[in-house]
Amino acid sequence: MQTASSHSQGVRFDADLIQRYDVSGPRYTSYPTSVQFHEGFDSAHYRKHIAISNDELIPAPLSLYVHLPFCHSLCYYCGCNKKVTRNPSQGRDYLKRLAKEIARKAALFDPDREVIQLHFGGGTPTFFDDDQLAQLVRWLRDSYPLDYSAQREFSIEIDPRTVNPQRLQCLAELGFNRISLGVQDTDPEVQQAVNRVQDAHTTLHLLEVAREQGFNSVSIDLIYGLPRQTLRSFAQTLELITRARPDRLAIYNYAHMPHIFRSQRMIKETELPSAETRLELMELTIRHLTAAGYVYIGMDHFALPEDELSRAQRDGHLHRNFQGYSTRCECDLIGLGVSAISKISDCFAQNHKELNSWSAAVDAGALPIWRGLSLNPEDLLRQSLIDSIMCQGRVDFTDYEHRYHIDFTDYFPTEMSRLAQQAADGLIELDEDGLQVTSSGRLLLRHVAMVFDQYLQPQTLQLKRFSRVI
Ligand SMILES: C[S@@+](CC[C@H](N)C(=O)[O-])C[C@H]1O[C@@H](n2cnc3c(N)ncnc32)[C@H](O)[C@@H]1O
Ligand code: SF4
Repeated sequence: MQTASSHSQGVRFDADLIQRYDVSGPRYTSYPTSVQFHEGFDSAHYRKHIAISNDELIPAPLSLYVHLPFCHSLCYYCGCNKKVTRNPSQGRDYLKRLAKEIARKAALFDPDREVIQLHFGGGTPTFFDDDQLAQLVRWLRDSYPLDYSAQREFSIEIDPRTVNPQRLQCLAELGFNRISLGVQDTDPEVQQAVNRVQDAHTTLHLLEVAREQGFNSVSIDLIYGLPRQTLRSFAQTLELITRARPDRLAIYNYAHMPHIFRSQRMIKETELPSAETRLELMELTIRHLTAAGYVYIGMDHFALPEDELSRAQRDGHLHRNFQGYSTRCECDLIGLGVSAISKISDCFAQNHKELNSWSAAVDAGALPIWRGLSLNPEDLLRQSLIDSIMCQGRVDFTDYEHRYHIDFTDYFPTEMSRLAQQAADGLIELDEDGLQVTSSGRLLLRHVAMVFDQYLQPQTLQLKRFSRVI
């Protein structure tokens, strides 16, 4: 059995193994996944869980996620929850309602609970101008004690087409110390095919400026598998980006699901790379990033070795949440805005996903909760196992036997036989003490996690609710 730290040392691209396991599956930004949320969970349940969290001997600190759904123009590939508009009054109305939700939810929490993590996601948060963003931060400060110490993690997703160095300065003054820049691909042909034209050098200049302004983590999003992408063009994108040394990189596999995301129908399927090329693009990405000194964190995420994520992975303190990987797990998460998800004291609660329903609920004086889930003890056990696989790449069976008073192999007979198959295939090493994901298995982490997902029926996989590995 390898140790936890060996998990962070290597990742091996094994095309045969990846092809054999090419079925769709959840990305486990939560377990149970949002497919299990149901409308029987309402605001009364939400309030009850908040009360439980306030009554803890030491209530957990808070993390706020604020969803800002608007974008100025439509990127055809986009699978995010967004609304494209050029009408500024839509944004203004949204902010007014958001102020109400912020205050209404804050009133339910013990006022001493500090916010140590804040994330503005979208859509495009920088759709709003500096004054609007400053107003939003003031509302948050009025309702919650925001921790402005150096340890804070205040992050914001940025579409580089919407900011300039002055705007970055303004975000820094508001307290943001982490940014992620959406780039996707720097090749003009690819940019045209997805309706997102942005000059790479302007983006890279922003990255430089962000460093000078003291942002302590800069992350870049890329996507492989986009139309007109070739191995050559994507190698150039990777070269250009890695030379600028962002602290983190998220390199997503393009999830083409035009039956769910209408705008993806604008993409010519004949221009999409073949399955074989996608596999080669994935291999190129792993090879290029590791050669450039980046550490593979898991599930499309890479970081420089000295970045906090890489250190957390080495020390076994990595966690996974709705934004991907994180070094903080102890917080209760409050989701604000349309579609936002909260995670508070063993429950998940999601706001209305449609702008109209969210607006109507806020206007009616209600908490805009659409659906959710109270986790039972079995969910919590499996959640912990899945987190351990996704973040540490290992499970120590004896640890679970002590913590949950179970005999691991007796408790999980079906799972053990599936694990034996995965061990025979080379995804994991398995013995009586535990499992360890191999360097080839690291690209198939979610498949190992899927073994412990109680809700995953064969039908769920076929429904294509989830994206594929390649
Ligand atoms: C909310 S967006 C980022 C912020 C900003 N709106 C922007 O585009 O720059 C989050 C990221 O999700 C990724 N993404 C969106 N649609 C995707 C898809 N269909 N498949 C894979 N990744 C996708 C993109 O990398 C995008 O940067
Ligand atoms: S990728 Fe970003 S800017 Fe483009 S449509 Fe999606 S959320 Fe909006």
